[in-house]
Amino acid sequence: MDYERIKHTALQHKITTVDKVLELFKDGAVVASSGFTKAGDSKVVLPALAARNKDYPIQITLITGASLGNDTDAKLTSSGILKRRMPFQVDRVLRQAINNGEVLFVDQNLSETSEMLTDNQLPTIDVAIIEAAFITAEGDIVPTTSVGNSPIFAQKANKIIIEINTAVSTDLHGLHDIYIPEAYPNRKAINIFSPNDRIGANSIKVDPEKIAAIVFSNQVDSPADIAHIDTKTAAIASHLIRFLTNEVASGRLTKSLRPLQAGIGKVANAVLASLEQGDFEGLTMFSEVLQDSSFDLIDSGKLMFASAASITVSEACYQRVFNNLEKYRDKIVLRPQSISNAAEVIRRLGVIGINTAIEFDIYGNVNSSHIGGTHMMNGIGGSGDFARNAHMSIFVTQAASKGDSISHILPMVSHVDHNEHNVDVVVTDMGYADLRGLAPRERALKIIQNCAHPDYKDALQSYFDRAVKEVGGQTPHLLEEAFSWHTRLKQTGTMKHH
Ligand code: COA
Repeated sequence: MDYERIKHTALQHKITTVDKVLELFKDGAVVASSGFTKAGDSKVVLPALAARNKDYPIQITLITGASLGNDTDAKLTSSGILKRRMPFQVDRVLRQAINNGEVLFVDQNLSETSEMLTDNQLPTIDVAIIEAAFITAEGDIVPTTSVGNSPIFAQKANKIIIEINTAVSTDLHGLHDIYIPEAYPNRKAINIFSPNDRIGANSIKVDPEKIAAIVFSNQVDSPADIAHIDTKTAAIASHLIRFLTNEVASGRLTKSLRPLQAGIGKVANAVLASLEQGDFEGLTMFSEVLQDSSFDLIDSGKLMFASAASITVSEACYQRVFNNLEKYRDKIVLRPQSISNAAEVIRRLGVIGINTAIEFDIYGNVNSSHIGGTHMMNGIGGSGDFARNAHMSIFVTQAASKGDSISHILPMVSHVDHNEHNVDVVVTDMGYADLRGLAPRERALKIIQNCAHPDYKDALQSYFDRAVKEVGGQTPHLLEEAFSWHTRLKQTGTMKHH
């Protein structure tokens, strides 16, 4: 037991066993847990809760920051404990349960959960589990590798369980900037004018009365999946770099661009990595997640500062960062997701948002969350927060996949996460389409010409030409044919017309 990590000695008597803590969880409970993109999640309580469920079955609503690591979502799903889950996930087992209708998934913009909790629009949180590096002398929580929704969970939950993770260095104290926007109608401006501005405290305030228990864990976060750069992702990245280089050449951007946000997935990783090669300097990030590529860019001197809600990196990068924290301390900050994804700040900073689409259509509507219009992949995550509010909203995807049997550019997307009004530039491995200032009929021609896979170009052009001729309108469509590409894939295994 590491009493050193509970500097507020009056709280030391709250230390208990995980078994004892489980008694706090009742059937129908609303449970909140720290954890954002695998970082800073509950390492012992949630897994133990899943394990208990075969002897003592209950069902809960689970709210987190974003996805969890350690296969915790899979364990919880298999145990049958999850009735409702929000606001994001990336787990294969949970995904299947969601799509079978066994778990109700509330897919939220990642800035939204805290807003709804602040305004009491969600049921009261019965128990919150928050991973901590240590508890300060004042009794505040110093979070670990993510902040996520933990501050609002601590503020709103009836009871709090603190999981002190002794595998995390206490040196990370000072990396966080904790600020909770006031409830309406007393909301104030969020005074961030540059990604490195600090506006809050470096720990999370908690009412000591609400701390029901303290337990210990000793396990680092699950490592991020390493997304290898292949020829397709490299091609997407090179087109995007070409676009940004042209923006600099035209004088609309400088070599430091604007604060960058990059989503999750292998394409986003390749794009960030390729900024290394471009003629850019003095870059900054105002994003959600710091990935390996963020630290590579810091090391190479290209990235001056990065703001996010979590650090989600490979094992090697984790060691590199936490063994050399002094090197990075003045170059990164971890914020709550209500701030990292705040509309006000994203718009003020003029963020360039780079997110991945599952598919987009000839007019630039984007689907980021659903396969075939019905089945959940991961969720919208933060992509909507950034797409709507960014100075420039860029979406990337491969032109075709699965032996080119699937075109990622379609007559009409089967689900809309980001509508054409919020999408400025789309990029595939074929090229980019700069849609700024273009009407739908112009957008279609550019997208088909620049971004579609050659095997699908003629069919998309034919669809557009016939829609213009037969139906017309602001956004010409042949409604009876609009989803035929998806149905053909289902029926024949390919979107290709034979
Ligand atoms: N039918 C069946 N499968 C389809 C399909 C269709 N109509 N359209 C796409 N797919 C498949 C692809 O074939 C691919 O499958 P594979 O993984 O077996 O190759 C998969 O869907 C898409 O994955 P991929 O192209 O490899 O993309 P990715 O790893 O870069 O992830 C997202 C893309 C969109 C799933 C991911 O970025 C995401 O979840 N985004 C939403 C959240 C977000 O943007 N957050 C940003 C802030 S952090």
